[in-house]
Amino acid sequence: MIKFEIKGLEDYQNNYSKSVQNPEAFWGAIAKENFTWKRPWSKVLDWDFSSAKVSWFQGSELNITENCIDRHLENKGNKTAILFEPNNPIEPSEAITYNDLYKRVNRFANVLKSKGIQKGDRVCIYLPMIPELAISVLACARIGAIHSVVFAGFSASALSSRINDCDCKMIITSDGGFRGSKNIDLKSIVDTALLDCNGIESVLVVKRTNSEVSMVSGRDFWLQPLLDAASEVCEATVMKAEDPLFILYTSGSTGQPKGMVHSTAGYMVYTAYTFKNIFQYEAEDVYWCTADIGWITGHSYIVYGPLLNGATTLMFEGVPSYPDYGRFWSIVETHKVTQFYTAPTAIRALAKEGLEVVKPYDLSSLKILGTVGEPINEEAWHWYNNHIGKHKCPIVDTWWQTETGGIMISPIPNSFEGKPTFATLPFIGIQPALMDENGQEIEGNSVEGRLCVKFPWPSMARTIWGNHQRYKETYFSAYDQKYFTGDGALRDENGHYRITGRVDDVIIVSGHNLGTAPIEDAINEHINIAESAIVGYPHDIKGSALYGFITLKNPQDLSDSLKTEINQLISKHIGPIAKLDKIQFTLGLPKTRSGKIMRRILRKIACKDTSNLGDISTLLNPEVVEAIIKNSI
Ligand code: WTA
Repeated sequence: MIKFEIKGLEDYQNNYSKSVQNPEAFWGAIAKENFTWKRPWSKVLDWDFSSAKVSWFQGSELNITENCIDRHLENKGNKTAILFEPNNPIEPSEAITYNDLYKRVNRFANVLKSKGIQKGDRVCIYLPMIPELAISVLACARIGAIHSVVFAGFSASALSSRINDCDCKMIITSDGGFRGSKNIDLKSIVDTALLDCNGIESVLVVKRTNSEVSMVSGRDFWLQPLLDAASEVCEATVMKAEDPLFILYTSGSTGQPKGMVHSTAGYMVYTAYTFKNIFQYEAEDVYWCTADIGWITGHSYIVYGPLLNGATTLMFEGVPSYPDYGRFWSIVETHKVTQFYTAPTAIRALAKEGLEVVKPYDLSSLKILGTVGEPINEEAWHWYNNHIGKHKCPIVDTWWQTETGGIMISPIPNSFEGKPTFATLPFIGIQPALMDENGQEIEGNSVEGRLCVKFPWPSMARTIWGNHQRYKETYFSAYDQKYFTGDGALRDENGHYRITGRVDDVIIVSGHNLGTAPIEDAINEHINIAESAIVGYPHDIKGSALYGFITLKNPQDLSDSLKTEINQLISKHIGPIAKLDKIQFTLGLPKTRSGKIMRRILRKIACKDTSNLGDISTLLNPEVVEAIIKNSI
């Protein structure tokens, strides 16, 4: 167990002060005492926000998998590291001990090597939530290959653009994946994607569903025979602190997704430290995060953070509604889950099903509940607190981002608790700032502004793969010497933060970040469509849903099938998660005189909040607004 617990409010305050007054001494001590290093650092922190350059623990050498696995073998070899719960409850769950994990990761790492993968090569992973997903992530890290996990709900074209963006040499996939009653043919999606990818030399295929797949000779290989032939010993490759550990794509407000690059040492230190303290993990606990490893939450708080702490981390293959809406609670009961971490959209969907699906289950093992991904509404918070936590489990409303690598603002249950809709106080070492419209920091309490961070923290992303300029512009140019999050927030009279939501063109639908630009690009591919604008509007379950305002080249081309065709295009280019809930065809979109679509107005119309649209007289075409309001859905 990692020895760096925060022990109550006073301890939090003392550590927070130290971390701000002397960050190098603070993080240096945490890092030194709690991890295995092959060589110490010469400098804890080096940074310059004007060039967007940050390095932590420079000069040190390590391998993160030795910290996740090897060092636990002596005392915890027989402890369950990964507890796998399959989609179908009839199939038995599988407990993978630290000893097993060591062997399986090493075998997999040797297979990667045998297929020519070397340190620094990029490996794409496109797998369902099965143990091989976590194992392949760790196998890459074992040999210093950079993993790029792509969520298995993304389409072939989203997959190929991510493979090409970082020039992956290999892809790891499966014949298919089980999701509820569905069986998804992942291999055929990969086959389609690879028609557009020249750099992939080999495809490793895990057998999961036994569905028929086509295998390209010399390129595609079933994984199991290769694993069987591989040695269970694989020396961990020595990595430098700042060597990239992984790339993970996140949507931006414009075009191409951003390949956020995370480095090794800082990410390790921060995810381990936050995991221990925010989830208050104790030796016998069974921790469960319901996210998919295709997202940052899964990277940091299913795989790395828990394993760095020698924890038991549960991985669930399925969905909350299969075979019925009691599935989550049945898993909690069966495995005596102690920490449960999910998203507001899941809480709302489950709350809607009523208490009949909760009551049959014994949830008394639970100690801490967590939420992440979007602001949690008050009603969902109370439902979670009343019916799942039964008023005895602190709720950690954790605010963070793909870019931040780890949790930034959150209650720490033994130090201070949460209150509905508040992520509360910054974690140790995190220095938030709220900014006004003039780019000035807003001091004091009871204020609202745009959320920035004014000092580096160990797990921040270091760059966007292949485009440092975009990294600098996106995150460090809006406000001088500050990292800009893209979120708005308020700070109450006690200094507690409440995140109010995105202030850019990213919309969070069911916890998934979706940039409006790529969706509009997909729609505009339709031969009959002139232009489109996507905005979000409140939705009971999804938090936000998508509303598309679309103009046709020729209004007479409007057909019954057009809406379906639009959603098909979106599914093809991005994935079904980005489908529009509402589509309104209009004769024009409100534009400024410089030709920019006024999304502000469309957003208000979609939200049915048209009483005060502000000054629209400066629009190029104010007359379209009334028609849009009249025909709005
Ligand atoms: C939003 C997920 C309110 C926020 C870890 C952020 C939240 C974006 C919360 C990042 C929260 C995440 N309260 N909003 N507790 N957690 N968000 O990159 O807008 O998938 O910028 O990382 O989700 O989403 P991402």
